[in-house]
Amino acid sequence: MKKRRVGVLISGNGSNLQALIDACAAADYPAQIVLVISNKPDAYGLVRAKNAGIPAHIVNHKDYASREEFDIAMNVLLNKYEAEFVCLAGFMRILSAGFVDAWQGRMLNIHPSLLPDFKGGHAVRDALAAGAKETGCSVHLVTEEMDAGEVIAQAKISILTDDSEEKLHQRIHEQEHLLYPQALKILINNN
Ligand code: GAR
Repeated sequence: MKKRRVGVLISGNGSNLQALIDACAAADYPAQIVLVISNKPDAYGLVRAKNAGIPAHIVNHKDYASREEFDIAMNVLLNKYEAEFVCLAGFMRILSAGFVDAWQGRMLNIHPSLLPDFKGGHAVRDALAAGAKETGCSVHLVTEEMDAGEVIAQAKISILTDDSEEKLHQRIHEQEHLLYPQALKILINNN
């Protein structure tokens, strides 16, 4: 089986990146991660990439005059490594229309809610504040509108009466780590 080439974009801890790295280690998993890009120089995910022998690059958004120039720098790298798919894994920057267009149908994001509920940067906090009884995580195709692309896979969890944002996010993370590799596999199998 020829493994398809995936670039992963991160901004932080990279536990979802780790889940993808671990899934890709299986001979029968249809993907390999060919590079990791972080917009944050101190993201722990960069260490995870290096530990796995994956090229890890910092593209610091602060070094670019515009969102478009930052995105072009990432695209240059993705093309250099011949990535066919992109996974956003805790990547906390909004992407330009040009970048989203270039990867239309081939770029996934993971989001800590049951989309279309609780879009945006504080999904776990917002679900708690709304008194929701359940939440979860979604892997979706990235489109220009934030957190609005077609959902590829979702996992649901109950919100407990004594949940804090931290405890709830921890349980969501556990589901994310199972869901992201499944969703990437679905996308690849459909392409
Ligand atoms: C994940 O929970 C992911 O769903 C969330 O950031 C976390 C990153 O964790 N993404 C968003 O909120 C996107 N709006 P990780 O760095 O350990 O993978």
